[in-house]
Amino acid sequence: MSISPVATAISPPQTEPGADLGAPAELSIIIPTFNEARNIAELAQRVARALPHTQWEIIVVDDDSPDGTAAAAKALEGEFARREKTLLEAIPKVHPFAAMAKQAPLVVLVCGDETLERYPGFWVQDCAAATENLLLAAHSKGLGAVWVGLHPIEERVEAMRQLIGIPPQVIPFAIVPVGHPAEEKPASSRYDRRRIHFDRW
Ligand SMILES: Cc1cc2nc3c(=O)[nH]c(=O)nc-3n(C[C@H](O)[C@H](O)[C@H](O)COP(=O)(O)O)c2cc1C
Repeated sequence: MSISPVATAISPPQTEPGADLGAPAELSIIIPTFNEARNIAELAQRVARALPHTQWEIIVVDDDSPDGTAAAAKALEGEFARREKTLLEAIPKVHPFAAMAKQAPLVVLVCGDETLERYPGFWVQDCAAATENLLLAAHSKGLGAVWVGLHPIEERVEAMRQLIGIPPQVIPFAIVPVGHPAEEKPASSRYDRRRIHFDRW
């Protein structure tokens, strides 16, 4: 699944209403929305009242809501600073080791669905194999890709769930940012003869 730009960030005015975001946010509040046009303004005002001394930002992830949620967020321009953000920019805010996601032209989210399992309990192996195969396929095309782990760190799993609106039976396993490599890294080896056993342990 590729993640496309769909989010709007709203934050307190920096210099004048409508100005672009300046200082980095101290607190990012990610709000996945669908048809919440009527509530966006109220939400922003409540956050502003609750956090007068914090450089906050609200990232409204608008899932192409037909009721004009994105337009409602845009309409706050007179009152708050606002800019379009991509979902890829939101990922590093919920994952400490995913800074590369915001520059990647493509991020794949690998998920397991326990209701589709043929062999119950094997979803982790299946997802790990899919992730590794994805890395190999990217490499074979001269692209760079990195395995960014989610499962079993519950707070990362939950954050991705919230960000993308993933249903309960689906478990986000890893994200794989893919792009054109900026550097060539030597292969590392962790070979340790003592860890290899023949016939019996
Ligand atoms: C389970 C797993 C989780 C990983 N999670 C991250 C991550 O969160 N962020 C990251 O930059 N790299 C992550 N990596 C990639 C590793 O940091 C490393 O780049 C990769 O394993 C290749 O390194 P090597 O050539 O030294 O083996 C992960 C790798 C694995 C296997």
